[in-house]
Amino acid sequence: VAGFAAATAHRGIRLLRVPTTTLSQADSGVGVKNGINFMGQKNYLGTFAVPWATLNDFLFLHSQPFSLKRAGLAEVVKVAVVKDAVFFDWLEEHAGALAACRPDILEHAVERSALLHAEHIARGGDAFEMGSSRPLDFGHWAAHYMETMSGYTLGHAEAVSVGMCLDILYSVKKGWLSSRQAERIIAVLKALELPVFHPLLTRRTKDGACEILKGLEAFREHLGGQLTVLMLTGIGKGMDVHEIDAALMEECIREMQAQAASLE
Ligand SMILES: NC(=O)c1ccc[n+]([C@@H]2O[C@H](COP(=O)([O-])OP(=O)(O)OC[C@H]3O[C@@H](n4cnc5c(N)ncnc54)[C@H](O)[C@@H]3O)[C@@H](O)[C@H]2O)c1
Ligand SMILES: [Zn+2]
Repeated sequence: VAGFAAATAHRGIRLLRVPTTTLSQADSGVGVKNGINFMGQKNYLGTFAVPWATLNDFLFLHSQPFSLKRAGLAEVVKVAVVKDAVFFDWLEEHAGALAACRPDILEHAVERSALLHAEHIARGGDAFEMGSSRPLDFGHWAAHYMETMSGYTLGHAEAVSVGMCLDILYSVKKGWLSSRQAERIIAVLKALELPVFHPLLTRRTKDGACEILKGLEAFREHLGGQLTVLMLTGIGKGMDVHEIDAALMEECIREMQAQAASLE
């Protein structure tokens, strides 16, 4: 809200951002977007506005409620799996310390994630998202839709964790990602006690359709053109796809549901 106000008052006043959560320091705080949920839609109102500066003060990290502090690591895992295999190895190796939010380890994870996000935005060639390719939105088509479906009771980080698991399984079923690599990523999410399934994935509309799949159309509309979703071809490597096999996606959901039920 502050970002939107600063971007529009007097046609834009300079904004210095001081993000205070793991998620915002590691991801949204270093970006160029601001968004407000409106009319039942995620980030419906907002602008692109480059902040004058972003100040990540680590002291804020440690004052967050524990679950919020840890959940934000979902976006850290995300940027590692789409951009940086070496960083993923580091996260895997330090998963225990990260799960406990050991201060030095948390700070390093947040800093590396913020730099990877900032580097992509600054040097990725499409800071203002004129094109449809959004690697930093890995797992987000389902995540954004689940947040809306939940009436925003589901947090962004948790939704992203579940959304990534869905697209990881889809990538495996398509033969793009090895099951070993998928297992490694999911093991890290589980170690961080992030959710790997949510019952909203199985919700049906009145006419019996799988509701979450409508998120693909919502995402395409949001992109303003061709549907473009990043799928994984390895750890640290992704590929844009423009068509999603709905039946296969539903099969992934059924498999995730069965897996979740077997653990209960
Ligand atoms: N590019 C983007 O625009 C982008 C990217 C990722 C996420 N997001 C959005 O960002 C939102 C999540 O933001 P968030 O992680 O800042 O959460 P939040 O703003 O919802 O804050 C969570 C809660 O923690 C409290 N809190 C925050 N910092 C604290 C601290 N240091 N100590 C104690 N309490 C603290 C807040 O008062 C609040 O109650 C989501 O809506 C998500 O969609 C946007
Ligand atoms: Zn996100």
